Amino acid sequence: MAVYIVMGVSGSGKTTIGKLLAKELNLTFYDADDFHPPENVEKMKNGNPLQDEDRKGWLAVLAENIQKWNKSDGAVLACSALKEKYRKQLTSIPKENLRWIFLWADFKVILERLESRKGHYFKPEMLTSQFEILEEPNYGLRINVNTSEENILKRIMVNLNASEAEIGLIGLGVMGKSLALNLLSKNIEISVFNRHVSGKEEDVAKDFVQENADKYTFKGFDDLKEFVSSLKRPRKILLMVNAGAAVDAVVESLLPFLEKGDIITDGGNSHFKDTLRREQALKEQGIHFMGCGISGGEEGALKGPSIMPGGSSEAYKQVGLILEKIAAKDKNGNPCCTHIGPDGAGHFVKMLHNGIEYGEMQLIAEIYHFLRFHTNIDPEAIADLFEAWNEQMKSYLLEISVDILRKRESKGFLLDKILDAAKQKGTGGWSTNAALELGVPLDTITAAVLARNISGMKELRVEVSNLYNPINNQNGNLDEIKDELFRAYKTASLINHATGYDLLRVASSEFSWNLNLSEISRVWTNGCIIRSGLMEDLVNIFKDSNNHLLLNKNIIFEIKENQASLTKTVGVSLQAGYAVPVLSAAANYLLNFTSAQNAANMIQAQRDYFGAHTYERTDKPRGEFFHTQWKNNN
Ligand code: 6PG
Repeated sequence: MAVYIVMGVSGSGKTTIGKLLAKELNLTFYDADDFHPPENVEKMKNGNPLQDEDRKGWLAVLAENIQKWNKSDGAVLACSALKEKYRKQLTSIPKENLRWIFLWADFKVILERLESRKGHYFKPEMLTSQFEILEEPNYGLRINVNTSEENILKRIMVNLNASEAEIGLIGLGVMGKSLALNLLSKNIEISVFNRHVSGKEEDVAKDFVQENADKYTFKGFDDLKEFVSSLKRPRKILLMVNAGAAVDAVVESLLPFLEKGDIITDGGNSHFKDTLRREQALKEQGIHFMGCGISGGEEGALKGPSIMPGGSSEAYKQVGLILEKIAAKDKNGNPCCTHIGPDGAGHFVKMLHNGIEYGEMQLIAEIYHFLRFHTNIDPEAIADLFEAWNEQMKSYLLEISVDILRKRESKGFLLDKILDAAKQKGTGGWSTNAALELGVPLDTITAAVLARNISGMKELRVEVSNLYNPINNQNGNLDEIKDELFRAYKTASLINHATGYDLLRVASSEFSWNLNLSEISRVWTNGCIIRSGLMEDLVNIFKDSNNHLLLNKNIIFEIKENQASLTKTVGVSLQAGYAVPVLSAAANYLLNFTSAQNAANMIQAQRDYFGAHTYERTDKPRGEFFHTQWKNNN
C-alpha cells in the first residue's frame, strides 16, 4: 500500500491537509509530531529549534512505522521532512509506494498563517530558520497552499490520480499558454504538452507548469503517451499548434494513443477544407474532430475569447461546456461560444471573421493615412477624432487604433516608425477564394487583401513612386471633410459586414450547415477582434431574417443617408492622391448592387460574339438562351 507524506515548513497546513487527504483516500492519518520523544517537544515549547541529533531517533521510529503502514493499509503522514537527508531516512519502503506531497508558499504567506494560529506550540520566529534549512524536493508533488483547503485537496487529488485532467492542451505558444491559464482560472483540470526539440523547445511544458506553480497545479509533458494517459476518458485534446502540416503531424502522432469516442479540437486558424478532410478521416476511426475558431488574440485567450466550434453535436456535448466556461460573455452574461455547425463550419466562420477583420483594419488604415497626409494633422489629433467616432461605433479595432495613434517613442510617434508593409497569414485571402468558388461578391475584403499584397511590395513601390511622382495634396481641410468621412466610414463598414455575411449565408446553404447568423453575431459581440456596436445590432437584425443585410429597412435608411458621402469621399481622396481601396470597393459594390441595370449586357454580347456562349433577352422569359451571328449583322 502507499504511504503519503505531506511535508513542508510549520504553518504550511500539513496536519489539516493531511487529515483531509486521509479522509479522501480512506486511510489513517498520523502526525509525525506525535512521535517526538518528550525531550524534543519540551525543546520546541521553549522556542529552541531542534538539532539534527535530536531528530535522529525520531526519524528512525517514523521510518519503522512507514514500513509497517506500507505492509498493512497504507497511511497519510504529516511530517516537515525539510532536509533531503531526513527524507532519505524516511524512505524505508520502495520509492513507488512513497508519495511525497510538498506543501509550500512564500515566507510572507506562511508567516501570516502562523500569526493567525492559536494554541500551537510553534513560535512564528522559528519560521526563518525553517526556511533556511528547507531543501525543496525535486520529486513528488509541489502544491502551493495559498488557496482554500478545498482547492489544495483538489489539486493534490488531480495530481495523484494520473487520469484526472478534464482536458489536455497541446502547443504552448502565446495563444496556447493564455488558453491554458484561462482554463486553470476556471478551475478546469488540465494537462499540457509541448514537443521537445533539442536546443529550441526544451522542457517548455514543465517550465510552464513551474512558472505557474504558485497559482495552479497541473501537469506538463513532453511525452505524448504520458500526456494522453493523464486525461479523463473520453480524452478531450485541444490543439493550439500552427495551422497546416503541423496539425496533421500532431493528429498522426496522437492516434496510436487514442480510443473511439475521444475528441480532438483544433483551436488554430485552420482552413475549413482541411478541417472537413480531417473530420471525415477521423470519423472513420471513431475519433471526433472539431474545428474550432478562437478569436481575441493573447488577451482574449487569457481573459475570454470568442469561440466558434464546428463538428458533430456529440463532440460538442463533450467539449462545449468547457469552451463555454472559458469564453467571453455577451451583454446578457451568456458565453460567446456556440455550436456553429457540423464539420468545417466553425473554421469557415472564423475565416470570415478574419476576412471582415481585414476589411475593417484596412478601412481604418486608409482613413488614417488620408487624414494624416491630406490634412496634415498629427496622430494625436486623429486619435481624438477616432475616439469621438467610437462613441457611436463602439468598435474594438477603432479603439485599439486610438491607442496606436497616441503611442509615442522618444520624441515622435511610434506609428511613424513602423514599416508600411503588412503581413498576412492567409485567412483574408481564403475568404476571397471561398467567395470566388461560391460566386459571391466580396469586394471590400478582397480589396483589403490586395492592399496588403501591394503594401508588401515596398521596395518596388519606392522605386515606382520616383518614376511617377504621384500627386500628394496636403492642403485638405479637416473641418470640411471629417463629417462626410465619418459617414463614408460607417457605410463602408456596413458593406464590409453585409458582404461577409452574404458569403456565410451562401456557404451555409452550399454545405448544408444551417448557420444561425444571429447567434454567430452574438458570439462576435465580445471577446473577438471585430466586436462593435454594429455587431450588437446584427444579433437582432438576423433574428428576424437571414436575408442580405442591404434588404433590412433600417440599413436601407442609413445607407441612403450616407451613400453620397461615401462616393464624395472616395472622389476627394483619389483626386488628392490617396489610395482608398476599401472605401472605393464599398462605393462600387453599393452602386453595382443597387443598380437594376448594369454593364453586363455588354459582357454577355461579347461572350456570345467570340465564343457563342449565348445570352438571355430582356424581352423573353429567363432561362431561354439565344445566339447571334454578330458579323453578318442581320
Ligand atoms: C483573432 C485574429 C487572429 C490573428 C489573425 C491575424 O481573431 O484573434 O484574427 O486569428 O491575429 O490570424 O491574421 P493575419 O496575420 O493574417 O493578419
